[in-house]
Amino acid sequence: MTVQSPSSPPSLFRTLPSADAFVDIWFNDHPLSVPGGRSVAAALLAAGVARFRSTPVSGAPRAPYCMMGACFECLVEIDGVPGRQSCMVQVRDGMRIRSQEGARDLPPDSPTALENAHDR
Ligand code: FES
Repeated sequence: MTVQSPSSPPSLFRTLPSADAFVDIWFNDHPLSVPGGRSVAAALLAAGVARFRSTPVSGAPRAPYCMMGACFECLVEIDGVPGRQSCMVQVRDGMRIRSQEGARDLPPDSPTALENAHDR
C-alpha cells in the first residue's frame, strides 16, 4: 500500500503489476511503504513525494529530472549520508531518507574542509 503525505499531490506514477514487493522506509520522519526493486527517487515519486531538496541560494524546491545521474536535482540524505543521488541508489527496507536542504557540508576529513579548518 502506498502512503502519501497529506500535503503531497497524487502521484502521476503507477506501479506495474510485476513490481517487486513493497518496502518500508522513512522520509523526513514520515513512514512510507514504497515499491521495492527500483531507485529511491522512483520509489519516492511513486509515493507522491514532490520535493526532494532545496537550492542553496534561494531555497527553491527541486525534484528528480533526468533519473539517470546527470542533473543532480534528486539529492537527498540517505541513512545519514548527505548529497546522495536518489536516482542512482536502490531503495531498501528500513532506509531513513531526508530531503536535502541547501548546500551539503563537506566531509570532515576532506582536503578542502581541512584547509578551511586551518584558515580559521
Ligand atoms: S534525477 Fe538527475 S541526477 Fe538524479
